Amino acid sequence: MPGSLTLSNQFEDRDIIKRFGVKYERSERFKGWMLEQLDKYHCHRILEAACGAGVDSLLLLEKGFHVTSSDDSQQMVNYARQVKEEKQIENWEILKANWLSLRDDLHGLGTFDAVLCVSSSIICLIDETPDLALYRQSFKNFKSMLKPGGILLIDHRNMDAVIDQGKPVNKNVYFKHNSIANMESKLLTNGGNPFAANITYDMIQEPSDRQDSLPSKGIVEKVTIPLQAIRTQKFTSLLKEVFGEDCEYNIFADFKSCGEVDIPAYYQYVFRKTT
Ligand SMILES: C[S@@+](CC[C@H](N)C(=O)[O-])C[C@H]1O[C@@H](n2cnc3c(N)ncnc32)[C@H](O)[C@@H]1O
Repeated sequence: MPGSLTLSNQFEDRDIIKRFGVKYERSERFKGWMLEQLDKYHCHRILEAACGAGVDSLLLLEKGFHVTSSDDSQQMVNYARQVKEEKQIENWEILKANWLSLRDDLHGLGTFDAVLCVSSSIICLIDETPDLALYRQSFKNFKSMLKPGGILLIDHRNMDAVIDQGKPVNKNVYFKHNSIANMESKLLTNGGNPFAANITYDMIQEPSDRQDSLPSKGIVEKVTIPLQAIRTQKFTSLLKEVFGEDCEYNIFADFKSCGEVDIPAYYQYVFRKTT
């Protein structure tokens, strides 16, 4: 029997900040990779299209980038705006915008050197259309926000592992400290085909430097997030379809070259808009 999808408006929850660890400090590997890509393609004007509480946007602002941040969750937008106010940052625009209507929601902003949709945000979009029409639309919208030569930085959890092995890869990749323990998954099917998975884990409130994934200071609660069960190959082919078969692109595994990592926890993509 198909499992049921847990869709409790997860990003409007009042405890969202704590439950998703969006305020936790990022790993040096993630920061280094992101800054390296932006530097390589001479990016200055950035749109972060899933900004959450704004941690990555803040880092970029501190590094001197011109940053516009957007998110579909009013809770997240409010939080990021509060941070902006507390830190008295004037040159930071924070807007509510959905990937599916990004061009309209961000009307009048022009185009950017880079669009970021990172920290495995995009696969929070559950798309049951036969050929992933919502993903195609989101990718087209990201591309439409780029100037020619601009890049899309996007990533997602390794869902091949979830589909094939029935278990998510739990490696500490994005956060500075280990914050997630006891990770499990339950595949959800539609007509026998996997379309999503409920990923369940313990979010540790005060993560320590320990690398053994054991909660040492207390658990906030069990968190369940539904994620699209999209294969890496399908994700890549959709991006190629939108950006053009001959476009310039690069795929990374846990921020390293693909092939260097046996079973990555996440994949990162850099797609460049030519036209
Ligand atoms: C896993 S969180 C990551 C947030 C942030 N990048 C970070 O690392 O803290 C995913 C984010 O995507 C946003 N999101 C989910 N669906 C969205 C949509 N359709 N359009 C825009 N944002 C969306 C959520 O509100 C949430 O802030």
